Amino acid sequence: MQELSVRHLLGIKDITAEDIQLIFETADNFKDVLNRPIKKVPSLRDITIANVFFENSTRTRLSFELAEKRLSADVINFSSSGSSVKKGETLLDTVNNILAMKVDMIVMRHSSPGAPHFLSRHIDANIVNAGDGTHEHPTQALLDTFSIRERLGNVAGKKVVIIGDILHSRVALSNIFALQKLGAEVMVCGPVTLLPKYIKELGVKVELDVRKALAWCDVANVLRIQLERQQMKYFPSLREYTLYYGIDKKMLDSLDKEIVLMHPGPINRGVELSSDAADSHHSIILNQVENGVAIRMAVLYLLASKK
Ligand code: CP
Repeated sequence: MQELSVRHLLGIKDITAEDIQLIFETADNFKDVLNRPIKKVPSLRDITIANVFFENSTRTRLSFELAEKRLSADVINFSSSGSSVKKGETLLDTVNNILAMKVDMIVMRHSSPGAPHFLSRHIDANIVNAGDGTHEHPTQALLDTFSIRERLGNVAGKKVVIIGDILHSRVALSNIFALQKLGAEVMVCGPVTLLPKYIKELGVKVELDVRKALAWCDVANVLRIQLERQQMKYFPSLREYTLYYGIDKKMLDSLDKEIVLMHPGPINRGVELSSDAADSHHSIILNQVENGVAIRMAVLYLLASKK
């Protein structure tokens, strides 16, 4: 049996193109399972997984929980709000107490970049990073690239633009790594204040004009403005951001080509995307969410065999 080169999924930076292909092929099989009347397999019947969330989530948390249940794992859920973290318990004490209950795997979201990497140096259980601050969100990038492959047949050679708040986005960084490993051309587009200074060192194109970016690409992955992570004002107002970077269906229809529209969610409707664009035939936003379950099943299944 083929296996992953890593025993934790901390980031896309740490895995190979072969790892990604293996995850995709495994997810193809699980997607078939999810389309059957009985959507469950006994693969992780002996495994207990803790979903440990120190930050809010809808898609990632529910998608991991469903993936775990579809694999017949036992599941416990921890949320920092309402927990003993509020009494001063540390991250490591919290996780070690969860592991003392005979838990095999930790899926963790945390607001601090590097938190899952820190954990991996102190605990034995497999760890999946479900988003660490502004750093990486590896399963999001895997489901995004899997969805591009599903819609366009291949990721290699495709032109993908990531539009919006690149500076605060873990989705952008993980997508850049995944797309490049799979042979796509990557562009980022946004106001200059929301582009990291080092961005060109990652080998991506940079475009400030959203209309030129849309004219260039096969796929546009549009990001949310992350006001909750912004320590200062990066643009005068949301209204002005929408004026220059907001995308609506008329813009997409006028391109005279097929374009695939993506968004990791949650969408700020009327800010980065109009409702008529988000809900248009260009959009594969809900396909991304659907594919997230199969991708997370694949990641958990493959990591469980890497003790
Ligand atoms: N895409 C994503 O990570 O969404 P949630 O924050 O709702 O999990």
